[in-house]
Amino acid sequence: MSPTLVQFVEIVTIWFTPCLVALPYVVPDRPHYGRNYPDIFELPEFYDTAFVGPPIQHDPRWPSTEVTVGQVSGVAVGEDGGVLVFHRGNRVWDASTFIGDKFANARGKGPIQNHTILRLDPATGHVNESFGANKFYLPHGLTVDKQGNIWVTDVAMHQVMRIPKGRHDPDLVLGEFLVPGNDDKHFCKPTDVAVTSSGEFFVSDGYCNGRILKYDSNGKLLTQWGQQFTGRASQAGTHGLYIPHSLTLLEKQDRICVADREHGRIQCYNAGIKNPATAGQFVKSIEHAEFGKVFAISYDPKVNLIYAVNGQTYMGNKVKGFTLNMNGDIEGTFEPRGKGFGQPHDIAASPNGGDIYVGEIYPDRVTKFSRELW
Ligand SMILES: *[C@@H]1O[C@H](CO)[C@@H](O)[C@H](O)[C@H]1NC(C)=O
Ligand SMILES: *[C@@H]1O[C@H](CO)[C@@H](O)[C@H](O)[C@H]1NC(C)=O
Repeated sequence: MSPTLVQFVEIVTIWFTPCLVALPYVVPDRPHYGRNYPDIFELPEFYDTAFVGPPIQHDPRWPSTEVTVGQVSGVAVGEDGGVLVFHRGNRVWDASTFIGDKFANARGKGPIQNHTILRLDPATGHVNESFGANKFYLPHGLTVDKQGNIWVTDVAMHQVMRIPKGRHDPDLVLGEFLVPGNDDKHFCKPTDVAVTSSGEFFVSDGYCNGRILKYDSNGKLLTQWGQQFTGRASQAGTHGLYIPHSLTLLEKQDRICVADREHGRIQCYNAGIKNPATAGQFVKSIEHAEFGKVFAISYDPKVNLIYAVNGQTYMGNKVKGFTLNMNGDIEGTFEPRGKGFGQPHDIAASPNGGDIYVGEIYPDRVTKFSRELW
């Protein structure tokens, strides 16, 4: 290259690169109608409220050194801001944990003796409350509803439970203890729960059944959809799921989205809140090559974004946190300072929209991210 050409390239690079980098933050994403799917979320007004702003930063006060946890399988934030954590104490899920779909040596191992549910102070990570010892065999999903009830799933017990606010024992238990199955009375390693304001709820079931079940507030089964499909995502159609691992409800939009983990995609269906007959109708799929696997998702109504954490495939994609807008586009990514994520397993946005928590299976920790720090 001639010296003047080198200079020219330098000037262009120096002056225009910052503009390109800043572009995503100053130009709100416009909807790309019809690019991938015809009807997206069907509610164009939601695009206009899409949050385009500062990136998400690791809050350096977390993980708190005060907290001792095992594998963190579930995390959720209550309406009061309290951070709920579901962890496996001194038990781990390894190659000897299951024989087929059944928990191996249940009698010999018994329930986990550690307190498996912790309530942490959002500012400091201080443990305000701990309970759940001698109740669970292999914790998985944790959800807290608008009334403050805690919902958990246990993949060894094959059960789903609702623990009323302020109490430590469930008032609703679904599934048969330690018995896997795929009928109306049994789950097979159920993974997560999502609850509407009126108490209707959805269960993702799970590692061996690729289905979503919807119940009324008393635990009566209303409908179910989806089936296990272990082939490629491109052949799975709209209802073929391969480990539906996490649920998030977009209540205002009447959508229930599922992390279809092994297919590396997010499947969104009609939740049927307004019209029960539409529950389970396919609405939209969010797929990006960078995902690899999708472990967990959490919708944040305040900023109208879905947060996701992914997992590695043999393709060697990077493990990250993602923010996705209502069009399904990746708006940004985030990860902890230092070595980044190990194996994130669950993600939860705070109801005030400012904070995001990620629980990991390895290393055993809960990390907090905030927008305000920026
Ligand atoms: C679980 O309990 C055992 C026995 O009391 C204790 O040694 C261990 O540190 C606890 N582990 C966690 C993660 O709480
Ligand atoms: C949690 O504990 C901290 C420190 O003891 C206290 O300041 C805070 O008010 C507690 N939060 C709740 C919700 O009890």
